[in-house]
This record gives sequence, C-alpha cells and structure tokens, in this order.
Amino acid sequence: MSQPVRFALAGFGAWGKLHAQSIAGNPEARLVAITAPTEATRKEAAAAFPEAAIYADAQAMIAEAEFDIIDIVTPSHTHRDIALEALAKGKHVLLEKPMATTLEDCKAIAAAAATSKGKLALGHEFRLSSQWGEVKKIIERGTIGEPQYVLVELLRKPYRLGAGGWRYDQSRVGSWVLEEPIHFFDLARWYLSGSGDPVELYAYGNSRDPQRPQLFDNFSAMFKYANGSYAVVSQTLAAFEHHQTVKVTGTKGAIWAGWSGALDRTLEPDYFLKVFDGEKLETVKLESHSGEVFELREEISQCLRMVRGESHKLATANDGLWSAGLCLVAEESIRQKQPLPVADLLKL
Ligand SMILES: NC(=O)c1ccc[n+]([C@@H]2O[C@H](COP(=O)([O-])OP(=O)(O)OC[C@H]3O[C@@H](n4cnc5c(N)ncnc54)[C@H](O)[C@@H]3O)[C@@H](O)[C@H]2O)c1
Repeated sequence: MSQPVRFALAGFGAWGKLHAQSIAGNPEARLVAITAPTEATRKEAAAAFPEAAIYADAQAMIAEAEFDIIDIVTPSHTHRDIALEALAKGKHVLLEKPMATTLEDCKAIAAAAATSKGKLALGHEFRLSSQWGEVKKIIERGTIGEPQYVLVELLRKPYRLGAGGWRYDQSRVGSWVLEEPIHFFDLARWYLSGSGDPVELYAYGNSRDPQRPQLFDNFSAMFKYANGSYAVVSQTLAAFEHHQTVKVTGTKGAIWAGWSGALDRTLEPDYFLKVFDGEKLETVKLESHSGEVFELREEISQCLRMVRGESHKLATANDGLWSAGLCLVAEESIRQKQPLPVADLLKL
C-alpha cells in the first residue's frame, strides 16, 4: 500500500466533525492536524483525535503542520482566505461548498488554483452519490435520449444556526441559496452538461421573517440553455424533515428519483430511482446507501486519488464557480425581478 495521505482539517463544527470521522475511518488517510478556534472544540477535537495536532488558527496550521491536503469546512465567508493561503503554499485543497460568498472571491480562488502546485476540488458531493450519480450514468447511457428538462426539488426543516449564528447572518452566509440549493444547481448543470453552458436564469424567493427578507425560506429558479433545454431548482425551508426529488425527462424517456429522511444526515434513509426508457419502466436497485454521510466517505476516497495524481470524480474549480455563480445570479434576479443572462458572467 502507498503512503497514507495526510489531511489537515480546518473547521470542527457540525459538518467538520463528520469530515474528521470520514478521514479517520479511511485506512489510507491520516488526520494529522485540526483547526478549531474555540477552546471547547479544541478540547473535543484533541479527545476524539489524539494523534492530530490541534491549532486555534488555520493560517498557523497551514504554516506549521506537515500535510498533503487541507479540508476546509469553515463558515462560508472564511473560505477565500484559507483556500488562498493553502494554494499559495502549493497544498492540495478540498473546499466545502460554496466556493466563496462572492463571485469575485470565487474567481480569486480559481485563479490561485490555476497557478498553484496544489490541486483544488469542491465539496459538491452529490456527484459521488450512489443515487444522484446513477441518474448521471443513466443519462450518459442514452436510456432517456437527450435530456431536455431537469427538476431538483427539496422540502426540509429550517437551517441550523451554525457556530456563532453565522448561517443567519447575511454578511457571513452570503445567501441561503449558497447553502442547499447550490447542490441542486450543480446537479442540474451536471445532468445537462450535453447542452453546453446555461445562458439565462430567472428566480423567485420569499421569507417568512420580515427581519431577514433577503434570506429566502422559499426559493425557486429556472435556467435555460441555447438548445432550449432547461432546469428548475426549488427549495422550501418552511417545512419538516428532509425530502428531495429529482426528475429528468429526455427525448425518449424519463427518470424519477426521491430521497427521504428525518434529517439530511440520517443513516437510515428511504430512497428510490425509477427509469422509463420509452417502453418499459424499471426500478433501479442502488449498489450502496444514498445520503450525504455516505457521499462524504466517498469524497475522502476521491481526495486520495487526487493527491496521488490519479483520475477522480471530484468537482473542479470551474464547477464550484458555476454553482456559486448561478446562486448569486439567482439572488440578483430576485432583486431585479427579471431574468438575467449568465453565459459570460461566469466565464473564468
Ligand atoms: N457539502 C455539504 O453537504 C455541506 C453540509 C454542511 C455544511 N457545509 C458547508 O461546510 C461549512 C461549515 O458548515 P457547518 O455546518 O459545519 O458549520 P458550523 O457552524 O457547524 O461549524 C463551523 C466550524 O468552523 C469553525 N470556524 C470558524 N472560523 C474558522 C476559521 N477561520 N478556521 C477554522 N475554523 C473556523 C467554527 O468555530 C465551527 O466550529 C460551510 O461552508 C457550509 O456551507 C457543506
């Protein structure tokens, strides 16, 4: 077996702890360093991962720790500075979505990655799912013909506050579209990749709370391609549990998939995937569980491949830029109450 890949982890919050477990649970990976800014999380990290060096500050960890790849799972407004620092040092980076909270910051990270010795991957882990990944394989096999329409829709309970309330503070979260719908933009764009790049987007959103009118509880966007195909991305946070649907129709057939859990991180989800090739309807049996906890484990395995210079399935800087960019244009479309062009805006 080759040398274990050494991971440094920035952020030891709700999602960062699951990253830590996924790294520690992979026999070919070592969790060598963790940054946790509060004393309580530092103690927790040291107790759970006694072999890791614990830092209070990500810049100090990047400067001092010996590692191959940094996994950045910090509040979204901090992504830019940590990613730029690591790339400047030639380190590989796994950066959680959203790439950053502004298009300018996303472009700065993409530009730094283009000249760094380190490689950059984005945490759009739906691509690694046994279920959402199977949808892509079915499309690629041509079972439904040319895809012309994609719907990705979620009904769920409200977001968590996040450490220090960052997720309910617009200056730190950027936008709620950058939280969950960003995954759906990434998925829809991935499924429609045969249509080229999106050209136009129109969005609606509203909020239940007059104190935060710009953080949308209900959000829907449509984006279209020059060939006429289009996608609908829709989410409500004004509900309960976590229930997601994907529908894709093509020139020959159709796909319908659903995922349900009491929580997004449940280990016991219900899910299904049905495919119609124009003649017969089939229920597809998935090879492994579908859900973000399982996808995270696969994401760490794919990071090992990236660090070792092997081919991998991780989302690229360009994917991260497009996904964040579509979210940010959607916000602007809601403000301006009109469809907006996207083709040139998002070019690297
Ligand atoms: N891919 C996914 O499905 C997914 C799921 C959840 C969260 N996320 C993303 O992961 C990131 C973290 O989300 P979370 O839910 O874990 O938030 P959280 O608030 O639960 O945890 C964030 C942690 O980072 C720490 N932190 C803050 N500033 C830091 C810094 N400069 N350096 C190091 N640590 C710092 C905080 O103290 C906290 O412990 C966000 O960008 C979020 O959008 C992605």
